Amino acid sequence: MANDKQFKLQTTYVATRGVKEYRETIAQWVTSTDTVLEIGCAWGSTTVLIAPHCREVIGTDISPEVIARARERHPQLRFELLDAYDVRSALGFGKQFTKIYIDVSGFSGYRSLLDLIALLTMYATILQPEAIIVKSGALKQFAGQCIAWQSPFRGSLEEGSDARREKVEDVIGCDG
Ligand SMILES: C[S@@+](CC[C@H](N)C(=O)[O-])C[C@H]1O[C@@H](n2cnc3c(N)ncnc32)[C@H](O)[C@@H]1O
Repeated sequence: MANDKQFKLQTTYVATRGVKEYRETIAQWVTSTDTVLEIGCAWGSTTVLIAPHCREVIGTDISPEVIARARERHPQLRFELLDAYDVRSALGFGKQFTKIYIDVSGFSGYRSLLDLIALLTMYATILQPEAIIVKSGALKQFAGQCIAWQSPFRGSLEEGSDARREKVEDVIGCDG
């Protein structure tokens, strides 16, 4: 069931299709005050592009082999092992991540959409970044089909008659 806390999440989700779009976002979304977590960094090819734009970046991946390779290729950057689903370990880095980049194999297709949305919500709830930039064609397509409904009753509610308020609560329903 939906709850008040979910509606207060402030994280923006940026859905991209393909690595070109994923990397294109860096110039617009990463700033010099950001601390960035990249999940699914592979050999660090995107991590190294993010690094000059931010205060700090940590590249992470589930595979020890790719992390070893990333460290070898970019010894000036920090790379750590992390399973995307292990948010507790991400919290263990002890950083207030302001932006999170996610490019995990298997998250581009429709079959993984629910898992991806659950993962995004988990990171938004626990780490509370300003934005999560994710590589997923399926999420981008889904987001393009969504609109956030603006209630025509909202203005009247602010004026505040009890009768109006009850009407709006009827329309919205008790669980949003
Ligand atoms: C497409 S590659 C990432 C490419 C990289 N972002 C870049 O721009 O060069 C996907 C990566 O996701 C990693 N991966 C797969 N499952 C993961 C998981 N559960 N947690 C973290 N990384 C995962 C893989 O090991 C692989 O390195």
